[in-house]
Amino acid sequence: MSVREVVKIGDPVLRERARELNPEEIGSDEIQRLIDDLIETKRATHGAGIAANQIGEAVRVAIVEVEEGNPRYPYKPPEPLTVMVNPAIEPIGDEAVEINEGCLSVPALRGNLQRHLAVRIRYLDRHGDQHEVVKRGLTAGTFQHEVDHLDGVLFVDRADPRTFATWEQFDHHQREEFLRRVAELET
Ligand code: NI
Repeated sequence: MSVREVVKIGDPVLRERARELNPEEIGSDEIQRLIDDLIETKRATHGAGIAANQIGEAVRVAIVEVEEGNPRYPYKPPEPLTVMVNPAIEPIGDEAVEINEGCLSVPALRGNLQRHLAVRIRYLDRHGDQHEVVKRGLTAGTFQHEVDHLDGVLFVDRADPRTFATWEQFDHHQREEFLRRVAELET
């Protein structure tokens, strides 16, 4: 296992649609090592999730994990580690919520964007077993952000550019209002 370098916006690998893995590939040493590296890199950089193309591998593997008191996103509800291979996401209902996001591949910038309030995600785990989960609120936003990465989509594509802020300016001017708004979300 190793902490890998996180690819930054401008690298074409972030704009590719990552390819599906065959079920036989999932158990390979190469993919198992990739999954371990993703977990270690996410933890070292305090992300809420990370996708394989963020460490330069254009395959459909992404993880989500929010530890209690995550320093980047202390307000996000804790979420246990989920390793997703070939995830497919679909909205439940048509309710949307405005979420403020950042991204390990977009240093120093946050912005507001619309996310589906609730989503269903189907994926294979690292053993190739199928899962289906339903997520809501900020957690649903995190899953949508990671699956977007696998489609070559970054949060800046969906954000209102007038809301872009550095992390410092977010704390000064937007954080309080955002936290008040998301506190009303059922998670
Ligand atoms: Ni990201």
